[in-house]
Amino acid sequence: MAESWVNHAERIGADLHLDLSAPGSRRAALVQALRDAVRGGRLAPGTRLPPYRSLAADLGVARNTVADAYAELVAEGWLIARQGSGTRVAERTEPLAPAVPAPPLPKTPKTPPRARAPRHDLRQGTPDASSFPRTAWLASYRRALQQAPNEAFGPGDPAGRPELRASLAEYLARVRGVRAEPDRIIVCSGFAHALRLLFGGGVLRGPLAVEAYGLPFHRELLTAEGVRTVPLPLDARGARVDRLDRERAVLLTPAHQFPTGGPLHAERRAMVVDWARARGGVVLEDDYDGEFRYDRKPVGALQSLDPERVILVGSASKSLSPAVRLGWMVLPERYVGDVLRAKGEREAWASVLDQLALADLIGSGSYDRHVRRMRQRYRSRRDRLVAALAEHAPHIGVDGVAAGLHAVLRLPPGTERSAVKAAVWQGVALDGLAEFRHPDASDKDMPAHDGLVVGYATPSEHAYGAALEALCGALPPGEA
Ligand SMILES: Cc1ncc(COP(=O)(O)O)c(C=O)c1O
Repeated sequence: MAESWVNHAERIGADLHLDLSAPGSRRAALVQALRDAVRGGRLAPGTRLPPYRSLAADLGVARNTVADAYAELVAEGWLIARQGSGTRVAERTEPLAPAVPAPPLPKTPKTPPRARAPRHDLRQGTPDASSFPRTAWLASYRRALQQAPNEAFGPGDPAGRPELRASLAEYLARVRGVRAEPDRIIVCSGFAHALRLLFGGGVLRGPLAVEAYGLPFHRELLTAEGVRTVPLPLDARGARVDRLDRERAVLLTPAHQFPTGGPLHAERRAMVVDWARARGGVVLEDDYDGEFRYDRKPVGALQSLDPERVILVGSASKSLSPAVRLGWMVLPERYVGDVLRAKGEREAWASVLDQLALADLIGSGSYDRHVRRMRQRYRSRRDRLVAALAEHAPHIGVDGVAAGLHAVLRLPPGTERSAVKAAVWQGVALDGLAEFRHPDASDKDMPAHDGLVVGYATPSEHAYGAALEALCGALPPGEA
């Protein structure tokens, strides 16, 4: 059997694409393509070209066409042919002219320079990157690769790997009280991807009720998908779901309101499920940091109240890292087909190999161990934050500390902007609470409060003390 060009390229460690679309004969097009490849450096001096018959077979041309093209290039000095060692690219002393003249270098770089990292990063949103469980992830990746069947290296099933869906079903039931069979779970690349699939993919429609405070990125994403969002006021019991009206769906963060921090009261949990049943609506549960609870009783997933009315979306972004880009949707049965259609025929988002690694991480107990370790670490940071405020800024209240990776500092009225500015002066990056307020939230329904959202998970362990000190230095002074 003729040796194929690809096999040959593998043997010599090179792969080459030859474009024979140039006008004229096949021989002339092949001569031109090989000349361009040598001139452009894609075929380095000394590279051995494939035998006539294998290149001819790969290109679908006659063997003589290849022989004639090689002969012409040998005559021109581009190639050399030696008895017993085949045809090779000739060595040259002068530098080769590029096949296509390189464009002049732009005077200014096209990509904007990366913003300088702040000295003290207290922005919410990321876990401590220095605590990523590198060793456990590597071990899981190695095991996953060793044990994966060959078919795992083909195109992925858009529903996700069965290993991961089974691990998630067991984990979510055990830790979050979720009622999930693996075939209701669809893997995605995180919460933002789930929103795109659900709304951009035509599975759900707006208007969508959202909490009056939430992540601006998610609101912007929904607006870009043409979805109108309607703010629900918040009070001490969480979102005012009694205000739900003609919306078709509601997006909530029931375990830990983002960013203000409280859980949705049991009465409201029941109320929102009743609304969904009565109105044929759907509740979208963003369970972004449900595992991180410190001194209050664990709040199970709302989904368990009615798996046919609630879509639970979880993500590895807080528990592991936003770099992992893996999330999951636990869907009412009637949406499974629609979400799969929205995803397309094969997995195009979530790396199948990463899915296998996460399945192993969960199945081996390493994920639980990591979450437990991080829970202790974040709890201790939370305690240090509360203690530092009590000592240096006792006039500043702090909310939302029973769970999660961030807290909200309550500021005296009218001081938020100046506090954010003062923080910048101290080298501290953080956000004012106003950043998270829905632009249509009404002051009558829910007066705006001045506050700072402090992500205490973000700095690495050794940098945390200095970040706290700088933060306290930026807070408005109390009454003398
Ligand atoms: C409120 C909220 N929801 C969801 C997520 C997770 O988003 P993603 O999975 O797209 O990284 C985050 C950030 O981690 C968040 O702050």
